[in-house]
Amino acid sequence: MLGKKMEAALNKQVHAELYSAYLYLSMNSYFQSINLKGFATWMRVQALEEMTHAEKFYQYVINRGGRSLLEPIEGPPVKWASPLEAFLDAYRHEQKVTSLINALTDLAVEEKDHASHTMLQWFVNEQVEEESNADEICQQLKILGDSGQGLLMLDRELGQRVFTPPLPTQP
Ligand code: FEO
Repeated sequence: MLGKKMEAALNKQVHAELYSAYLYLSMNSYFQSINLKGFATWMRVQALEEMTHAEKFYQYVINRGGRSLLEPIEGPPVKWASPLEAFLDAYRHEQKVTSLINALTDLAVEEKDHASHTMLQWFVNEQVEEESNADEICQQLKILGDSGQGLLMLDRELGQRVFTPPLPTQP
């Protein structure tokens, strides 16, 4: 049985992951509006991944005998000054999510909740990738500067990203 403190904290994380999906969907809309379809595809895949993160937390709470209570989701920003500004925002957002996952892991240790601690390890590892992916694109955009041709090449590359649904056996 899930402790009440852990249950509340995990429910907050469901909200944080759903907000992440909202944020990246809004970035998808921004990139579509400036005709960078590859960047838009990357953001849509990111939004779908965030939905799977929310689902993992949501189902975990239920599997442990808790109750998943959904909170209202606030509206995300709707426009950015440039592709770099959008990706810097994505990178900062992922750093924030990492701190939330770390706080949840600390709580699992405090509460001696070994099952939650084990489940959270997947997210600890995932956040390394999440931060690194966003940061890498920030660095590439900084190098490109005002090069329209470079931006279009990166757009083609980012458009290759595909969503891979997690296997049912994954946490
Ligand atoms: Fe669900 Fe991008 O962290």
